[in-house]
Amino acid sequence: MILRTRLIIISLCWIWMLSSCNEGRFKQGKILYDFHCAGCHMEDGTGLAGIYPPVNGSDFLMNYKEKLPNIIRFGIEGPILVNGQEYDIAMSGIPELSAVEISNISNYIFNAWTNDLGIMSFAEVMESLEEE
Ligand code: HEC
Repeated sequence: MILRTRLIIISLCWIWMLSSCNEGRFKQGKILYDFHCAGCHMEDGTGLAGIYPPVNGSDFLMNYKEKLPNIIRFGIEGPILVNGQEYDIAMSGIPELSAVEISNISNYIFNAWTNDLGIMSFAEVMESLEEE
């Protein structure tokens, strides 16, 4: 009985630690997003019609999810189609962001606003950063 109670308490502690850790990452992702990305893609991810594409509810992001870390580090250029609208202004990358920071921004975007794109593992982030 005592052992069982102890086990329950230990598991509850683990759940609490893991969830508060995830929360910390999500918060860091939001702070970094607001600082580095919101100037163009807006704080609510809606972008600016015809100039900066949305990252909230973007079909492009949904289809090329694994590219996001790469886009953040190296940028993206050339005409792209986002939700049926063409965008063709180059976005420069942000080389000074670490892989961990990029991972936190990516996972923030995947789960912010109306987005429900799951979690990207750190291994997947590293893989995305490899190919330029
Ligand atoms: C100076 C403005 C600017 C900033 C700052 C900026 N972007 Fe972009 N972003 C753009 C533009 C313009 C495009 C379209 C590029 C093209 O036409 O090829 C784009 C495209 C994208 C795309 C692919 C299209 C889509 O909307 O799904 C993603 C994802 C993206 N940006 C994420 C980010 C993230 C994350 C950051 C911050 C780390 C960021 N951007 C910072 C201007 C910006």
